[in-house]
Amino acid sequence: MKIAPSVLNAPIENIKEWIVALEDAYMLHLDIMDGHFVPNLSFGIDIAKTYKRLSRVPLDVHLMTTHPLQWIDQFKSIQPQFITIHVESKDVEKSIETIKNEDIGVGLAVKPNTPIEVILPYLNQVDLVLIMTVEPGFGGQSFMPDMLKKVEQLQLYKHQHQFIIQVDGGIKDDHIQLCQESGVDVAVVGSYLFKQQDIKDWLKKNQ
Ligand code: DX5
Ligand code: ZN
Repeated sequence: MKIAPSVLNAPIENIKEWIVALEDAYMLHLDIMDGHFVPNLSFGIDIAKTYKRLSRVPLDVHLMTTHPLQWIDQFKSIQPQFITIHVESKDVEKSIETIKNEDIGVGLAVKPNTPIEVILPYLNQVDLVLIMTVEPGFGGQSFMPDMLKKVEQLQLYKHQHQFIIQVDGGIKDDHIQLCQESGVDVAVVGSYLFKQQDIKDWLKKNQ
């Protein structure tokens, strides 16, 4: 399974150590929150630029924001592998088009209570679908196994459209196999990864 570590709850005081331990990760997942779409704030473009400077791992920007266009405008400067916006946010069509025009992979995310059907009309325009396995806004919550049904439903469209499936929230190693069986391509792992004694070794074993 490809792993995208989420740095949201990573121990910032040891950044120099873990950034090296994560050098073989598939992507570094950056959670951007606006305090409106979700009831929390994380960090902005300046910290994201620091990640870009410190690591060669491709960046994966997850925008949990009501108005993604203004954030896309900032985050395009770090040329991430993907910018993912939420299907529940404003200006979805325009945001997809803007990300595409920058030659950045387009991701579309769904919250747990949003049915997968809402994503279907966009499948021909996106490179990644992010199925949230927790309510967005905070790290360290519990994985919602029911969300894997959405992953299974999406498999039916993979022969028609080219996109990868990502899951995000509450993932521990017990869930990795389940995710794999349902057809997940990339798992975002945050708090659980940073609780490991040996982060590099855990990544090697699970990736
Ligand atoms: C939740 C974020 C997740 C979170 C994952 O809003 O989108 O990326 O940081 O962290 P864990 O693995 O701790 O749930
Ligand atoms: Zn995320």
